[in-house]
Amino acid sequence: MRVIVCKDYNQMSEEAAKIISSQIILKPNSVLGLATGTTPIGTYKRLIEMNKSGYLDFSKVKSFNLDEYYPIKPDNVQSYRYFMNENLFNHVNIDINNTRVPNGMAPDPVKEGADYDAQIEAAGGIDLQLLGIGRNGHIAFNEPDEALISGTHATSLTEDTIEANSRLFNSIDEVPTKALTMGMGSILKSKMIVLLANGKNKHNAFKKLLDEEITTSNPSTFLKVHPNVVLICDEECYNG
Ligand code: PGA
Repeated sequence: MRVIVCKDYNQMSEEAAKIISSQIILKPNSVLGLATGTTPIGTYKRLIEMNKSGYLDFSKVKSFNLDEYYPIKPDNVQSYRYFMNENLFNHVNIDINNTRVPNGMAPDPVKEGADYDAQIEAAGGIDLQLLGIGRNGHIAFNEPDEALISGTHATSLTEDTIEANSRLFNSIDEVPTKALTMGMGSILKSKMIVLLANGKNKHNAFKKLLDEEITTSNPSTFLKVHPNVVLICDEECYNG
């Protein structure tokens, strides 16, 4: 795993946007794996600027998002579909029909998971997967557990994740307790992985990702088996 330590959040976002833009320039019909959360917002802002200036063309890009709350309607402001539209898709020339987020209203989550993985495969697989990391080492909604599920599936959020995500809701009771998430297997099939982490509150998770052996009690450690992972963090995250 390659580690890039940046001065601050802005530089981290710039580095990530550079890598993603290079991917799209080298392969205009790239399949991107995208993430929600606070961490990638700056990266998306830079990609929007690159698109608006005419430097970067999203017209042939396809995307698959990591996860979505369940159940949730796509027009709910807390949904990840809404987040992606607001923070990236509505501001670049991507074809919205080429963007996929797990369907938070799917009547059969098991079928939705299988369909999602089949669609990724039919698109040729993910070229570049963007990731964040949870304070508990989760990747997407693959939470620490005795076993991890390989494919896209429905899951329950841990108390720690519900607490961490409650900052974005009026009260902790409003945070959904279930989600659909790509599994670690789906994620590890990506050709390249870029994980972003910033701030002191991610220091422990980042250090454990680097130091711990592979264990299901820290899903992020599974990234160690992948041959092409870049970790980009800021100094606060790296030094604690
Ligand atoms: P964050 O979430 O970017 O909002 O910190 C990351 C995660 O929980 O995976």
